[in-house]
Amino acid sequence: TESLQVGELAKKLNKDTSEIIKKLMGLGIMATINQELDKEAIELIAADYDVEVEEEIIIDETEFENYEVVDDEKDLQVRPPVVTIMGHVDHGKTTLLDAIRNTKVTAGEAGGITQHIGAYQITNNGKQITFLDTPGHAAFTTMRARGAQVTDITILVVAADDGVMPQTVEAINHAKAAEVPIIVAVNKMDKEAANPDRVMQELTEHGLVSEAWGGDTIFVNVSAIKGDGIDDLLEMINLVSEVEELKANPNRTAAGTVIEAQLDKGRGSVATLLVQSGTLNVGDPIVVGHTFGRVRAMVNDLGRRVKSVGPSTPVEITGLNDVPQAGDQFMVFADEKKARQIGESRFKKQQDAQRKESSKLNLDDLFNQI
Ligand code: GTP
Ligand code: MG
Repeated sequence: TESLQVGELAKKLNKDTSEIIKKLMGLGIMATINQELDKEAIELIAADYDVEVEEEIIIDETEFENYEVVDDEKDLQVRPPVVTIMGHVDHGKTTLLDAIRNTKVTAGEAGGITQHIGAYQITNNGKQITFLDTPGHAAFTTMRARGAQVTDITILVVAADDGVMPQTVEAINHAKAAEVPIIVAVNKMDKEAANPDRVMQELTEHGLVSEAWGGDTIFVNVSAIKGDGIDDLLEMINLVSEVEELKANPNRTAAGTVIEAQLDKGRGSVATLLVQSGTLNVGDPIVVGHTFGRVRAMVNDLGRRVKSVGPSTPVEITGLNDVPQAGDQFMVFADEKKARQIGESRFKKQQDAQRKESSKLNLDDLFNQI
């Protein structure tokens, strides 16, 4: 059974702590504000207020919801940057991601077969970089809508023969709202009609002024199809991530965000997680959004089984009771019982919310018909 402190119980019942303490005294329990109460005492007090005790009010979920990574400066270590690629339709986002992966991922990883897990990691000059493979806009909109911030750096792809287009502007706005630094990749430089100066000119109007023109935005000319300029681009990513001083504490229980998830016929719920702090291990009890379980197996972006992974690493896990959603936060708990309780409570809440939502919709439908 769970316990609650006197002060917490008072808060849940919306009463003064002193009132609760008095009632406890009446029951022969001498208590202070921080005293842990057992289930029986909680039920007695609650009954006195005509409040029925459900598991839910006993479970303290604040641990998950107010979860914030607070680490001592001395525990922080440099971590790889997490990069997303954004830009207008057809400007070459996918081709660029593939070009980067093909030039870097397999080097020194003989035998490793890159598999699609929604993210991958490369090593450039001894430094790792994590790329999110999800469409940049989705990464920003769905994830940010759910309170998750996963991106450290955005690569804005602009085709040199097409220039700034509506979704280019949208991408700039997303990155600015999230305060994520932008590196501009002027793509399709191999094309006859390529006009990088025009791209620079047009982006100036959106506040992105090239260093060459006295601004502070890095521009790199590339041809994703030919593989030109890829090394320069990676070099610039390393530079920006050094400036950003990206750090995390690897020596704590893991927390992070779901990149994508689906139901697999053979393996059940399969989720790609981005570990943002701490180290995730096989066997860890975990709550992922409103799902929970124990990490049964982990597979990295090369399709290899791994036992533990640190900050900024994408990894595919199995072992969850249900399929979470992209943008859901995850958190490891010290014991499985707690993970289960919190997972179940979150699941119930989510279902209640859905039920409310659908009954509201029905009412709306009704009114619309009248
Ligand atoms: P969406 O996912 O539809 O938004 O497009 P995308 O931005 O991912 O573009 P994608 O990589 O699919 O490329 C679109 C087209 O441009 C394809 O036909 C690519 O072959 C072509 N392309 C991409 N990069 C280059 C390049 O550097 N040079 C040339 N000539 N063509 C390119
Ligand atoms: Mg694409």
